[in-house]
Amino acid sequence: MKPRPTLLVSIAFFVFFSLNSLSTVESDLASERAALVTLRDAVGGRSLLWNLSENPCQWVGVFCDQKNSTVVELRLPAMGFSGQLPVALGNLTSLQTLSLRFNALSGRIPADIGDIISLRNLYLQGNFFSGEIPEFLFKLQNLVRLNLANNNFSGVISPSFNNLTRLDTLYLEGNQLTGSIPDLNLPLDQFNVSFNNLTGRIPQKLSNKPASAFQGTFLCGGPLVSCNGTSNGGDKLSGGAIAGIVIGCVIGFLLILLILIFLCRRKRDKKEVGSKDVEQPRESEVEIPGEKAAGGSGNVSAGQTGAVVKSEAKSSGTKNLVFFGNAVRAFDLEDLLKASAEVLGKGTFGTAYKATLDVGMVVAVKRLKEVTVPEKEFREKIEVVGNMNHENLVPLRAYYYSRDEKLLVHDYMPMGSLSALLHGNKGSGRTPLNWETRSGIALGAARGIAYIHSQGPANSHGNIKSSNILLTTSFEARVSDFGLAHLAGPTPTPNRIDGYRAPEVTDARKVSQKADVYSFGILLLELLTGKAPTHTQLNDEGVDLPRWVQSVVREEWSAEVFDPELLRYQTVEEDMVQLLQLASDCTAQYPDNRPSMSEVRSRMEDLCRSSSQEHDIIDDKSS
Ligand SMILES: *[C@@H]1O[C@H](CO)[C@@H](O)[C@H](O)[C@H]1NC(C)=O
Ligand SMILES: *[C@@H]1O[C@H](CO)[C@@H](O)[C@H](O)[C@H]1NC(C)=O
Ligand SMILES: *[C@@H]1O[C@H](CO)[C@@H](O)[C@H](O)[C@H]1NC(C)=O
Ligand SMILES: *[C@@H]1O[C@H](CO)[C@@H](O)[C@H](O)[C@H]1NC(C)=O
Ligand SMILES: *[C@@H]1O[C@H](CO)[C@@H](O)[C@H](O)[C@H]1NC(C)=O
Ligand SMILES: *[C@@H]1O[C@H](CO)[C@@H](O)[C@H](O)[C@H]1NC(C)=O
Ligand SMILES: *[C@@H]1O[C@H](CO)[C@@H](O)[C@H](O)[C@H]1NC(C)=O
Ligand SMILES: *[C@@H]1O[C@H](CO)[C@@H](O)[C@H](O)[C@H]1NC(C)=O
Repeated sequence: MKPRPTLLVSIAFFVFFSLNSLSTVESDLASERAALVTLRDAVGGRSLLWNLSENPCQWVGVFCDQKNSTVVELRLPAMGFSGQLPVALGNLTSLQTLSLRFNALSGRIPADIGDIISLRNLYLQGNFFSGEIPEFLFKLQNLVRLNLANNNFSGVISPSFNNLTRLDTLYLEGNQLTGSIPDLNLPLDQFNVSFNNLTGRIPQKLSNKPASAFQGTFLCGGPLVSCNGTSNGGDKLSGGAIAGIVIGCVIGFLLILLILIFLCRRKRDKKEVGSKDVEQPRESEVEIPGEKAAGGSGNVSAGQTGAVVKSEAKSSGTKNLVFFGNAVRAFDLEDLLKASAEVLGKGTFGTAYKATLDVGMVVAVKRLKEVTVPEKEFREKIEVVGNMNHENLVPLRAYYYSRDEKLLVHDYMPMGSLSALLHGNKGSGRTPLNWETRSGIALGAARGIAYIHSQGPANSHGNIKSSNILLTTSFEARVSDFGLAHLAGPTPTPNRIDGYRAPEVTDARKVSQKADVYSFGILLLELLTGKAPTHTQLNDEGVDLPRWVQSVVREEWSAEVFDPELLRYQTVEEDMVQLLQLASDCTAQYPDNRPSMSEVRSRMEDLCRSSSQEHDIIDDKSS
């Protein structure tokens, strides 16, 4: 199964579905109002002073959509409700958030809650709900946060939790749950099952959670003491372990046997002359890399840029590299083609290679795909790109143009991209990216982009995203890939969901400066939240990082917005909130409401200046 297409398909489906459902929900408010009144009457209406002659959208705790046509949130925490929930809330068909935390509700959760397919956040913690965790909750495909902590739920944790593929937060602590934790295959960010009667081994996937998430249980393994088979739950566990070992041994033995048989047969076949059955697969094995390289796709390994480009370059005769400015002409096309190459990544406009020239020089080479502009226009536009000169831009040193092949030669940036730094290697060996580094990178990128914009109103970057912000060894930002959008082919792939693209952009070749500002705002959000804008699993609303941030801020969980890695630096939270504000301005829906890039740059300069002053003061005090 390939993850990417399914991811895109699921986002597209989700967008379609939510737009669709928004437009079809009309005038349900009467039945929703009836449901709310039923709820109030059942759980202690006197404490809830809803004025029945007003529109329910004005009632305390009831939040409607923009048109006041349907209830999207119901937040009634600590209202003193008691008794059982009535069958009513299922009528709130557009509800996204239901919070009834810290009341005294008891009994079972009514089954009609399972019909609220739009539900994303369900907070029922701090009540007396009992019974098993109901199966109908696993129908709520859109659920992102589920908090059932500190109730009286019993029974086991169902493996059906795996149906909730978007689930990000799962709190079950303080119940009477028994059994073991099933293998949860979910991108859980927040997880807690402490203070339950759980036994057995903590699944591998959850072993990176803090020990406090499992305290007060009889679990073992992961962050807790290792399971050695003799401790609690003994018989079953060791029985299982023995069975596992036996099965493992049998399978292993069979495998070895199979391999031996296979090898023997192969040897015998080789000895027989002219046995085509064996020769055939070996031939195609040899050919595959060549084919892939020629097609420009697949994993091209070291040493192949040369091979790829060579034939085409030679056939086009006398053409050579065109250098910019006073770059040292230390190599020519032949050298470049002979260089050993390794794939750095595949971008929007083509594949990038790291090429190590014989003279020892290392450059980054980008093979452009789908360039359809005529040669004259290409040369004019690439001249503009090549003549841009700013310390926060990755300089274009040279280019090569032929009918079949277009190459761009850039300085090689050994530290890779901001994207890799932020999202790669989340494992233990990772150095956290602190606030100073992040804000420094953001400022550098802002300066680079502001410079591009300052070259004239028609100049925009066109493709701002974290994988196009490269880094020097001292973590200074160098913006790359600018201006290439204007060379791209006529197919802007409209189906592609790009988390950085401003809503007004319909043609990838026509990205205005204000659209650049939007993309930069997304980049800031990415730096602050640590979440990639196209990553469904991490971004709760499923599509849109800015809207997710707004929703979380609105719910007053602003600390939850920020990357946990950043929150270690408590002193800078003020600055982070200010940058968040700037990001939010940049991602305004309407282009006219967004600041200009030079404004963004100077606001960031102020911010960085003030935060470094603050630190000086702190340093002074501490010394
Ligand atoms: C839910 O809505 C249906 C009609 O849509 C209505 O008949 C029913 O009374 C409502 N339930 C409650 C509890 O309001
Ligand atoms: C309820 O709302 C109506 C209409 O807005 C208003 O006239 C009335 O005073 C309100 N009643 C209470 C108790 O606030
Ligand atoms: C929706 O209700 C809110 C609060 O009751 C009110 O302020 C707002 O003006 C209403 N919006 C529309 C479009 O009716
Ligand atoms: C969970 O998903 C599976 C497969 O999609 C489905 O068969 C099953 O009924 C679902 N379980 C629940 C409780 O919805
Ligand atoms: C919790 O559930 C148990 C049965 O599982 C029951 O005996 C007990 O009374 C319940 N406690 C509360 C406070 O509801
Ligand atoms: C959970 O464990 C506690 C302490 O060992 C025990 O008193 C309680 O009865 C257990 N509850 C269940 C539901 O097994
Ligand atoms: C889990 O919940 C317990 C009890 O509320 C709390 O003490 C602990 O800090 C929590 N741990 C995590 C990782 O949330
Ligand atoms: C196994 O667990 C017991 C306690 O249940 C402990 O005393 C013993 O040291 C453990 N053995 C190993 C090898 O960890």
